[in-house]
Amino acid sequence: MSDRRPIVGGNWKMNLNEAGATDLAKALTQENTSAGSCEVVVFPPFVYLRQVERALGTDGPAMGAQDLYFENDGAFTGEISASMLVDCGCRWVLTGHSERRHILGESDTIVNRKTRAALAGGLSVIVCIGETRQQRDAGRTDAVNTGQLRESLADVSPGDLDRIVIAYEPVWAIGTGLTATPQDAQNAHSAIRQAFASMYDSDAAKKVRIQYGGSVKPDNAADLFACPDIDGGLIGGASLKSSDFSAIVQAASGSGA
Ligand code: PGA
Repeated sequence: MSDRRPIVGGNWKMNLNEAGATDLAKALTQENTSAGSCEVVVFPPFVYLRQVERALGTDGPAMGAQDLYFENDGAFTGEISASMLVDCGCRWVLTGHSERRHILGESDTIVNRKTRAALAGGLSVIVCIGETRQQRDAGRTDAVNTGQLRESLADVSPGDLDRIVIAYEPVWAIGTGLTATPQDAQNAHSAIRQAFASMYDSDAAKKVRIQYGGSVKPDNAADLFACPDIDGGLIGGASLKSSDFSAIVQAASGSGA
């Protein structure tokens, strides 16, 4: 058992409408998802941040955004800065999600700029990394994860690490119903922690929380979270149903991850 406090994120992606987002936030607050030993954050679509913030109130989970831009203001049509997110009540943001890397074409360099801009703006960041099926089949899982980790965190100072969480999300497991076995996930997490130690030091590696993401559901969460290097999860599909999400939060709370 480690001293790391488990953290569960609910990534709502491009789902729900205003009423649905507000209802989900209210349900999560009623189900007391913020209580207990687990930290909980939800990531609604940008346009519903304000309404969700109100619905979550002061007792609900914390809130974050799914993305940001790395400039602070100016002529960047359609983009949203860290300070705007803070203004809307966000304390967290995701960077490097596989859908942004693989569908929207974001490079490690962009992920790094966004991560640094988020930190500079006062946000905490969940930095997502993970290998494709092809990379896994070629035996490159750890090399890919280590490379993404190093490049995404380039020039992030040790003083900011308490606002960084890593999410390991094998691309082939996201939204597919396929989950890494707890042993495969544990192996990847352990390698990521080792890479972290070589980038910073062993103390930083012991402290950093590494979530697993990719088809986490109430029935597989407990086995994943019981692994020594898995400190909670980043949940997509199952975060849209409050009872499923609450069950996953309960599993993390009981994991002593
Ligand atoms: P999933 O998504 O739980 O639907 O697989 C996870 C994620 O993309 O963060």
